[in-house]
Order: sequence, then structure tokens, then C-alpha cells
Amino acid sequence: MLSDAQLSDWDRDGYLVLPDFVDPSDCDALREHVMGLLRDSEMQDGGLTVFDTNAQSHAQDEYFLTSGDTVRWFLEDGAVVDGELTRTLELAVNKLGHAMHDLDPHFDRFSRTPELAALAADLGFVQPRLLQSMYIFKQPGIGGEVTCHCDHTFLWTEPQSVVGFWFAIEDATLQNGCLWLAPGHHRTPARTRFRLTAPGARGTTTDVLDPEPWPTDDLVPMPVDRGTLIVLHGTLPHWSAPNTSPVSRHAYTLHLIDAQADYLPDNWLQRGPDMPLRGF
Ligand code: FE2
Repeated sequence: MLSDAQLSDWDRDGYLVLPDFVDPSDCDALREHVMGLLRDSEMQDGGLTVFDTNAQSHAQDEYFLTSGDTVRWFLEDGAVVDGELTRTLELAVNKLGHAMHDLDPHFDRFSRTPELAALAADLGFVQPRLLQSMYIFKQPGIGGEVTCHCDHTFLWTEPQSVVGFWFAIEDATLQNGCLWLAPGHHRTPARTRFRLTAPGARGTTTDVLDPEPWPTDDLVPMPVDRGTLIVLHGTLPHWSAPNTSPVSRHAYTLHLIDAQADYLPDNWLQRGPDMPLRGF
């Protein structure tokens, strides 16, 4: 799947850009599938309490922390006030997560292909496990900034093993909030760790391991056409700007870990015993 040149780029830079990895028609089909799920979602008939900015943050924490082995919608901040949407649902939704790849046949097919299995093997995975899926909307005009972070911060294994597959479902541009990456900075350790306050707890905390700010001056933009796959090393810093343009920037992300590494019991994303992680 990967050439020697691509593998040395990966080691040096901590990311790979693979244009035309997915057929554009498959991107369109996934987008249509998600929009159908949204049209059929129970949010269309109310059920918005958990998103209300006036609601107890405890309920929102619970909704997020128990989403690792199910499929849930997340709305933009401020999209619900006093139980009512402040804009149409199609423009209010922030993302869908976090186990579509195991629970939704369409996402399962998109996420488990021979090409992705070969790519994971080339990247050094011995026992790849599909841990987390997210469909991100990056809405026109209101899609918010994603602050600079690395994925290992959120999906910690010992040793580090997480890799992110970021699929452009729509064209990602400078205007609509494409990814920005800090090449080479994957060789420095994660600076923070986001985790549960204790295994099984319903609160979270962030450990600051290195107070030095992220190298934001070194970030370079990665505008890509739909169908492109960007592969992100788990300790590569990345960021995306708010979407101030009139067009959306849909993306699908899949995070893999290696079952040879230890997935820590105080990571925020946990699964019940009846739904173990699976590979390709
Ligand atoms: Fe990320």
C-alpha cells in the first residue's frame, strides 16, 4: 500500500496525505446516509434536553462519557436554548459519534476495507483495533475551531499506538476549516492527557505533562479534495479554524489502536464487556 518514500515521509513528518483514497461516490453515499440518519433522528421530535445550554452539565457529561459504544449526535454549542433549536437541525449538528463503525452497516463497510487493513499493516499495526469513529459536519458559518491537540491525549495507550484516519467527505479548504498540522512534532510527547478522574468515574480531568504551548507557528494547512485520506500519528499536533465560509466541510475520522498496547482504564472512551473492540 505505501511506498518506501511514503514510509520515510511518515517517520519524518507524522502524517500522510493520500489523495483519491476513497471514490467520490462513496463519500457522497456516506454523506447521504448520515443526512438520512439525521432526518430520522429522535431529535426531530424533541429530545433535546441534554443539549440545552441551561441543562445540568452533569447530564451532558454523562451523555458524552457513555457514547463510546453507541451512536450519538452532538450539537454545536448554543444550538439549543430553552429546549428549542436556534437553527435548523441540519445546521445545528456538530458531529455523530463514537461507534458507528461497529453498529451501523454503512459505516462498517466504509471503515473496514482491504485497503485500510493493508495501510494499517504498513504503518506497523500488529493487532489493529477500530476504537472510535466520528462524522464531523464543520457547519458553514458556525462550525467551531478545534483547538490544537494530539489524539494520544484522548485515547491513551501504553506504549502510544493511536493513529487517526481523517477522510475528507467534502472538499476541505482554507475557507471552510481544513486541517492544519505541525510536521515533525509527533516526535515530541503529548503535552496533556484528558482522562476520567478514576476508572468508572463520571468526571474528567486534564493532566498537564508539559506546560509549553503548542507550536502553532509551525502549523501548515492541508486543503484537500473529497476522497482524500489524511493519516495522523497519535502525537502529531493538529488544529482546524472555524468555518466562516458558506459551505460545509464534512469529514469522517476513524481512530485505531493496537491491541498489543495497553488501553488505559481511565481513558474517557470505554466499552461495555458485550462489545469488545474489533479489527478490520
Ligand atoms: Fe484530533
